[in-house]
Amino acid sequence: MKSVVIEQPGELVLADRPLPQPAAGEVRIKVHYASICGSDVHIWRGHNPFARYPRVIGHEFFGVIDAVGPDTDARRLGQRVAVDPVVSCGHCYPCRVGRPNVCQTLQVIGVHRDGGFSEYALAPAANAHPLPPSVPDKLASLVEPFTIAANITAFLQPQPQDVALIYGAGPMGLTAIQVLKGVYGVQQVLVVDRLPERLTLAQENGADRVFNNSEIALAAQLEGVQPTLIIDAACHPAILAEAAALASPAARIGLLGFSGEPCSITQQALTSKELSLFTSRLNSHRFPQVIAWMEQGLIQPQKLVTHFFPLAETARAMTLFEQDPRTCCKVMLQMA
Ligand code: NAI
Ligand code: MN
Ligand code: ZN
Repeated sequence: MKSVVIEQPGELVLADRPLPQPAAGEVRIKVHYASICGSDVHIWRGHNPFARYPRVIGHEFFGVIDAVGPDTDARRLGQRVAVDPVVSCGHCYPCRVGRPNVCQTLQVIGVHRDGGFSEYALAPAANAHPLPPSVPDKLASLVEPFTIAANITAFLQPQPQDVALIYGAGPMGLTAIQVLKGVYGVQQVLVVDRLPERLTLAQENGADRVFNNSEIALAAQLEGVQPTLIIDAACHPAILAEAAALASPAARIGLLGFSGEPCSITQQALTSKELSLFTSRLNSHRFPQVIAWMEQGLIQPQKLVTHFFPLAETARAMTLFEQDPRTCCKVMLQMA
């Protein structure tokens, strides 16, 4: 089978690999579509601290179960599935409290183990989530990025009367807009980015007001509006202090970033307004919820998609994705 392998940082090859055999409790998926995420590029460039090489990348993928391991339910053969990349132990403290995404021995498919930019991939049977016919093949790999928004909003508990502010209109910010509007019915969703093309996408994805902070600071443009719910989907370390300064008293702030740089903020900036801070990593069992949202038409994954490439052109697709955020949002790979 053909697989996209990062042999070592900087070295991407389309390799011929032996067809993998599922172990007990695993299924094999014939992958049909996958989508490129910033973290795939980070593994390629050697900027993902969790990655181990060589690695078949890809954690957003869709396909059909074509083999099952010993003692694994053979009735699942032929099922269309989206794969949750979070593989957890099931018995450590975070697993016991329903937070497998921060399992003590967390393994992420496409990061710690081989992923879905490949003609075939393995996954624990429980990670392969069946899809209703109303979720089309071409869009099913986008369940995963929406689970990030599902996870952080589960902490933030958005209310219709919230004034929400989202930093960043990349794929993460756009999924957050869609979930705030379509699922939670938040009436005012404000979005800030530096790129006008990204702000246009934000509007197409449901943002009520957009702000470009490339020249004029956001504070000067908000005219005293105090957001009650803020999501940092741009993830620059300086954003937290600005968000705390702009926030309404009693606001909630959600953070998604993984930067290793310190960010500077005083206790006073947080405590005087009694702000709540939530962080969110990947997703905890959110696949069924997002699949239901898609089935009910509450979110529109097609609004994120800008490009399709065949698997053989993955390097080109990832280069375009990396270099051209003005024209690229979700870049999809088609296997067959
Ligand atoms: P992206 O790079 O496509 O989007 C980021 C957007 O933020 C860009 O449009 C950029 O112009 C904008 N931006 C950057 N600095 C800004 C600033 N100071 N003010 C306003 N806008 C600014 O990235 P993507 O894929 O949307 O991911 C966003 C972040 O989310 C990344 O840092 C990524 O590491 C993180 N992430 C976290 C996950 C988690 O589970 N916690 C999962 C996936 C991504
Ligand atoms: Mn992703
Ligand atoms: Zn665990």
